Amino acid sequence: MDFPKSSQIASHFEFVAETGSTNADLIANSANTDDFSVLVAGFQSAGRGRAGRDWVAPAGSSLFVSVLLKPDGVAATNFSWLPLLAGLAMTKTVAALIPETAVGLKWPNDVLVGEKKISGVLSELVGDLSGVVIGAGLNVLQNKAELPIENASSLEIEGARNLDLDEVLAVYLENLRGLYQAWVAAGGNAVASGLRNQVIEACVTLDHGGNNRVRAILPGDAEIIGAAVGIDDTGRLIVQPDGEKEVVAVAAGDIVHLRHN
Ligand code: BTN
Repeated sequence: MDFPKSSQIASHFEFVAETGSTNADLIANSANTDDFSVLVAGFQSAGRGRAGRDWVAPAGSSLFVSVLLKPDGVAATNFSWLPLLAGLAMTKTVAALIPETAVGLKWPNDVLVGEKKISGVLSELVGDLSGVVIGAGLNVLQNKAELPIENASSLEIEGARNLDLDEVLAVYLENLRGLYQAWVAAGGNAVASGLRNQVIEACVTLDHGGNNRVRAILPGDAEIIGAAVGIDDTGRLIVQPDGEKEVVAVAAGDIVHLRHN
C-alpha cells in the first residue's frame, strides 16, 4: 500500500502489510530510529491496547500507526503530556473528517463520537527513556459487526465517505506534528505551549460546568465517583469525589462517564 502524503510528513516512514504490534516493533528499534519516525501496519496479529488489553481490527479496515517521539531538550518528567497530545491530535483529525458530529477527547486519550469510542492511543516509554512510542488505532472502514465492542464506532459508520487511509493518516500526522513542535519549542511546558488549554477545551470528561460525573477506576481497582474538574500541569485528571472536601489527582486509570446521573 502507498502512503504518498503521509510519508512526506514523517522523518522516516514504513508500511508493513502485517506485524504483531507496531508499538513493539518501534520500541525494539528505537535506539537506531529518528524522532518522528512512523510505522504503519495493514494488520496487527498481537495489537496492544491500554491496561494490558488487546487491540483488534480486521485487515485493511483501520489505521494502526506508531510514531516514535524523541523530544530534544525536554526532560522525561514532561513526557506525561505526550499521551494527551496524541489524543488531542486524533480528536482534531476525527473532528475534521466528520465535521457535523460531536467529537471529544476522553481523558487521557480515547476519542469519542458522542459516547462511542472511535480511536485509542497507547503510549509506551522506550527502554533508555529517550522517548515515547505513540501508537494509535483508528476505526476507519469497519461496519458494526467488525467492531470489538458495542460502544464503538468507525468513520464509515459516522458517515465519512471516500475514505482514503493515506489522507486520514496525513491529517493525523500533521496535527500530531504541529502540537508536538509547539510543545518541544516550549521545552515540554504544556502550559506555555498552550497544549494544556487545548486539551481542556477538547476534553469531554471534564464537567465544564454541567452535570457530568465520572467513575475513575484506579490501578488496584479502587474507585472514585465524582466530578472531573480539571487537568493539572502534569496532565493528571483532577476529580472532586462526591461528598469529599479534598480533590484527587488521577495519573492513571480507566474513566467511565456517568452522564447526567
Ligand atoms: C487503547 O486501548 O485504547 C489503545 C489502543 C492502541 C492501539 C494501537 S494500534 C497501533 C499501535 N500498536 C499497538 O500494538 N497498539 C497501538
